[in-house]
Amino acid sequence: PASAAPSQPGDRIEVFGHRGASGYRPEHTLASYELAARMGADYIEPDLVPTKDGVLVSRHENEISGTTDVARRPEFADRRTTKVIDGQELTGWFTEDFTLAELKTLRAVERIPDIRPNNTVYDGRWQVPTFQEVLDLRARLSKELGREIGVAPETKHPSYFARIGLPLEPGVVQTLDRNGLNKRQAKVVVQSFEVGNLKRLDESLEVGLVQLISNSGAPQDFVEAGDPRTYADLVKPEGLREIAGYADVIGPDTKVVLPVDDQGRLTEPTTVVADAHAAGLQVVPYTVRAENHFLPADFRSSDVPSAYGDVFGFYAALF
Ligand code: G3P
Ligand code: CA
Repeated sequence: PASAAPSQPGDRIEVFGHRGASGYRPEHTLASYELAARMGADYIEPDLVPTKDGVLVSRHENEISGTTDVARRPEFADRRTTKVIDGQELTGWFTEDFTLAELKTLRAVERIPDIRPNNTVYDGRWQVPTFQEVLDLRARLSKELGREIGVAPETKHPSYFARIGLPLEPGVVQTLDRNGLNKRQAKVVVQSFEVGNLKRLDESLEVGLVQLISNSGAPQDFVEAGDPRTYADLVKPEGLREIAGYADVIGPDTKVVLPVDDQGRLTEPTTVVADAHAAGLQVVPYTVRAENHFLPADFRSSDVPSAYGDVFGFYAALF
């Protein structure tokens, strides 16, 4: 694992363009990633799901009625279906039921037009990108901007995709290998909510690995399909020591390390950050952005209990 040195006051903040510059362009489009890089993001963050022919593409969810125009495409009307994924019943259109060629005929749309109305002007302009296209963009922009743009891919629903014969790990490893990015010094970190997925990736990847930790309740509060533990178990000292055996970083929901009440006020400190450091892990929380109303308007870093001191700023979204 990498050094778990806490940040110091005045340390430079590393900015992750979460789903690209998703406040300004429909998320997970090349345009969104490009704008994030041009706005100064250190990393871009593609979520990964597979097509029917096993190609990794960039979507937060494999159900794509909210992020593409698929529901308005008569030729795909019969692909609408209902599935149970990670305990949730979902009805819609799913990337794993489309070949890459079919998926490429779709166009991205803004996922939350009520919150981001300005983004709807871009509806219908851009395709769903492949992971390879994201890496190509990253390489081109790194050259043009004269600094290395990092990439933080996240595997979505890996147990589910393995069960239906579309495991994500081979595609992640092969794609990073093919691009010369499977090496310790590459500016790449691979993230997942699932323990087993990260353990399998650790066997083949040299890059940093991030164990994501949700604060949501059941049925989403799974560590891995079939694992009875919850994330509350995973952030105890024993769980953190286990994580340190295969990963370098924990990526907890901000509310896991900085619990707030319904007024946005900080409540009792937790020892998660200190315990993670003791286990040799860095702490990179997600996601700090205006729409979460996470920080009160008059927030001052001096208000933060010292145990939280190094959390701030590690993980921010461009909004
Ligand atoms: O990087 C962590 C974060 O991306 C996980 O949340 O749901 O936005 O993918 P989500
Ligand atoms: Ca993500």
